[in-house]
Amino acid sequence: MADARPFHWEFTPEPVPREVFRIEGGRPLNGSVTISGSKNAALKLMAAATLTGERCRFTNVPEIEDVRVMADTLRDLGVVVDHPAPNVYEVASGDVDWLFVPLEAAAKMRASFILLGPLLARFGRVIISNPGGDRIGRRPVNLHVDAMRALGAEIEYRNGYYFARSPGRLRGTALEFPFVSVMGTENAMLAAVLAEGQTTIHPAAEEPEVDDLIAFLQTMGAEIRRSSPDTIEITGRKRLRGGEHRVVPDRIEAGTFVVAAAITGGQVTLEGAPCEHLGAFLEVLGRIGVSVSCGRDTIQVSGLDRQHYRAVDVTTAPYPGLATDLQPPTCVLLTQATGHSHVHETIFEDRLEFLAGLSRMGARIRMHDATHATISGISPLHGAETEIGDLRAGASMILAALVAEGTSLIHGAHHVHRGYENIGRKFQDLGASITTVAESPAPRRRASKG
Ligand code: UD1
Repeated sequence: MADARPFHWEFTPEPVPREVFRIEGGRPLNGSVTISGSKNAALKLMAAATLTGERCRFTNVPEIEDVRVMADTLRDLGVVVDHPAPNVYEVASGDVDWLFVPLEAAAKMRASFILLGPLLARFGRVIISNPGGDRIGRRPVNLHVDAMRALGAEIEYRNGYYFARSPGRLRGTALEFPFVSVMGTENAMLAAVLAEGQTTIHPAAEEPEVDDLIAFLQTMGAEIRRSSPDTIEITGRKRLRGGEHRVVPDRIEAGTFVVAAAITGGQVTLEGAPCEHLGAFLEVLGRIGVSVSCGRDTIQVSGLDRQHYRAVDVTTAPYPGLATDLQPPTCVLLTQATGHSHVHETIFEDRLEFLAGLSRMGARIRMHDATHATISGISPLHGAETEIGDLRAGASMILAALVAEGTSLIHGAHHVHRGYENIGRKFQDLGASITTVAESPAPRRRASKG
């Protein structure tokens, strides 16, 4: 490993440009919108490209902040990342000379931890920041680390960093996870494809983005397949080759626009939308009474019946269950359904915190504990000034503002730009009144945790 560069244990975060969404609510959205490539797939595909020295080309990559962070993180390692056209990225990892993923990257984006598996497997060592530094509480990475150790890696944890090395090639093994983890599954896959011998991963995450990664790894020459819905079998190869891949559409972005049409009483066609990946979510919308019809790669949504929406009970679950990332938009929709809806969040303990912001916009919400809430509707929403603290909560506050009467100012737009391509423009094209303005220094209240 080159040692000419300084080794930073601490860092001062770069100031993020502060922007505010200004939204005049109450307009129905109409028209069509094209769904972008999936954030959660694109980031893992870019990481997979470090498994080979050959060039990998990705199309339909969303133009979002998290992709830019991943590209910069790879460049800092010495990887060549080109961006020859909009939505196209090329990654060539011939000369990786700096096997260090710093806190700067991890603090901006937790998904940088996906580089542990591929860098360790190909280069035999990596030093990688714990996402969030020493804050191991809420979103731990113990499953990733345990999986690497089971594959033969030696890993020490010091000063917020994992020091991982593998004396020879990693060795395939039977990996039994205590519960399903999306990135845990993916990190294990990205290590095992270059390990010696066979690996099985069980229970493996069943998310479509995991299948997209499997498809690209197969293109690279990896021997990897699902032998049952929750089992992945891998026979490691010594070398993998480059390849080209089109990123699967973003089912979470699609779900967000489905709710936007339903809640504003509009009629919207989603182009390039992955109906088959939205089964549990569309089933919930059907129970609420939203009219949705699926074409080959389109989804048509009509919110014309919105005064008849009915309350439903929802529980999040790993795929194929209702995605935790679609729970916040679903909650916004439920404020406009008649009756009492019970919501149970089972994946992340802090994912209902954003409901405090919805309450300030007039929603009637009772929190039973951190993961159970009751939403009572129909609640007319009104505009408010609020601040968002994370990506999915942010998109959901926009949805609430679109249906609210009056003006909303939503601070913290950069959280939404992490994962949604051109969200303001896409909503404008559907007839929404939404602009992004520079932050004013006025005091404000938070809608969710930072
Ligand atoms: C991924 C998605 C995220 C989505 C989530 C669940 C990416 C970049 N992010 O996150 O958008 O909301 O799946 O669908 O793909 N856990 C541990 N130890 C670990 C790993 C996870 O305890 O080592 C816990 C988590 O705290 C959580 C649960 O396992 O309670 C599931 O998390 P996981 O599936 O790993 O989520 P991510 O892969 O981080």
